[in-house]
Amino acid sequence: MLKLNFKPFPILETNRLLLREVNKKDMNALFLLRSNKQAMKFIDRPLATNTDEIKAFIKLINKKTKDNETICWAITLKDKPEELIGTISFHRIELQNHRAELGYMLMPEYWNKGLITEAIPKVIDLGFNKMKLHSIEANINPNNELSRKILEKFGFKKEAYFKENYFFNGKFLDTEILSLLKS
Ligand SMILES: CC(C)(COP(=O)(O)OP(=O)(O)OC[C@H]1O[C@@H](n2cnc3c(N)ncnc32)[C@H](O)[C@@H]1OP(=O)(O)O)[C@@H](O)C(=O)NCCC(=O)NCCS
Repeated sequence: MLKLNFKPFPILETNRLLLREVNKKDMNALFLLRSNKQAMKFIDRPLATNTDEIKAFIKLINKKTKDNETICWAITLKDKPEELIGTISFHRIELQNHRAELGYMLMPEYWNKGLITEAIPKVIDLGFNKMKLHSIEANINPNNELSRKILEKFGFKKEAYFKENYFFNGKFLDTEILSLLKS
């Protein structure tokens, strides 16, 4: 069985980015992100409606990181590390299968600057080489063509397509799974 240890929290750096732990001070920025209709369009989760929800969400992800269950980085620009502009995470980690789900999102004003393209390889590298994952999956809304394109750029391959398996907002939605094997 895989054993994880997120202590000390693995801060990651790229050319332009610093990926650090999400903290209480990120509440307003995270609220803006999770209540942004454009950013949430394909996330298929309810839009955040108040900061109390976000406070509870931050508490939960901090606890899950402390318990080595999930890891969520605040995406920040190196010259402004206090300002969260997005998140990237490994959640739903299956220890038995050495597998985790990758998720990411950015505030729309930071889209199309190659920032996620910069963040993903660092996170994948940590996933395979430090966390010792065997495979990484991404679970997308099939209409999220941009996200699929980004994943394919990093070698993720379509692995499954579930028809109407996810009930959200009064509709049964399809789900597409792409995955990347360590090999
Ligand atoms: C998906 C998302 C994270 C992409 O982040 P990003 O930093 O803008 O992506 P990048 O700038 O690294 O772009 C990756 C590629 O998409 C292209 N691209 C980016 N935005 C685009 C747009 N609006 N239209 C067309 N192409 C676009 C880039 O040119 C780049 O292509 P290339 O590698 O061939 O040059 C961002 O759009 C987002 O937060 N979306 C909402 C949340 C979401 O859907 N998350 C995924 C859930 S699985």
